[in-house]
Amino acid sequence: MRQYRRIRRPILSNAFGRDGPAVAGGRLVAVSSALPGEGKTFTSFNLALNLALERNAQVLLVDADVAKRSLSVSLNLGDRPGLLDVISSQGAGIESVVLATNLPGLFVVPSGAFREDASELIESVHLKNLFEVFLLHYPDFIVVFDTAPLLLTSESRAIAQLAGQIILVVKAETTLRECVVDAIALIPSTENKFVAAILNQCSPRRDAENTYGDYY
Ligand SMILES: Nc1ncnc2c1ncn2[C@@H]1O[C@H](COP(=O)(O)OP(=O)(O)OP(=O)(O)O)[C@@H](O)[C@H]1O
Ligand SMILES: [Mg+2]
Repeated sequence: MRQYRRIRRPILSNAFGRDGPAVAGGRLVAVSSALPGEGKTFTSFNLALNLALERNAQVLLVDADVAKRSLSVSLNLGDRPGLLDVISSQGAGIESVVLATNLPGLFVVPSGAFREDASELIESVHLKNLFEVFLLHYPDFIVVFDTAPLLLTSESRAIAQLAGQIILVVKAETTLRECVVDAIALIPSTENKFVAAILNQCSPRRDAENTYGDYY
């Protein structure tokens, strides 16, 4: 899928400082959108695959949409321990819930068992600490978060705050400009971050490359 390949280079460059200075927190990449159904889960999965094809990078794909858990469910990991279990348990590292995939270089963290306090856990300082420790121990890794819609939940704002790179998925010909502007306004301290938009699901006439690709 050529469009993910195109965005891979700047993301890796911002993460590891290869072609210029690294972006602060650039190894944490949040995939978000204004509204539901714009293609965040689809994009985060395909982006993670593409990043993992890079020789020098390893990718941790994290299901941080803990309410919907689409990524975990579609990868058949809905009943596996994951992000919420680690944030709520004292002392466990994120490594304890990392699962290997068939693609060397691509690893997944499921959302974990749903809990009433899921939103608070995602917004807690524990999440930040978990990933700080992870990045420190695994310098070759980039983390891609699938998140919930920015306009509907506060958790995704917490992830966006943490991440140095934000990929905002915008459903073509559907999402109103005002919603996109409002969503960007909710991302904390954008001036220090790399924020890129992906126009998703363009009509085939206007973007012949935009297909399901090889993985579906
Ligand atoms: N570029 C694309 N090409 C083909 N199908 C796509 C594309 N993007 C998204 N889809 C499909 O559209 C539907 C919605 O996408 P997805 O689940 O990724 O959206 P989402 O933003 O994660 O939604 P939610 O906010 O509900 O989690 C899915 O069935 C997905 O497979
Ligand atoms: Mg989703």
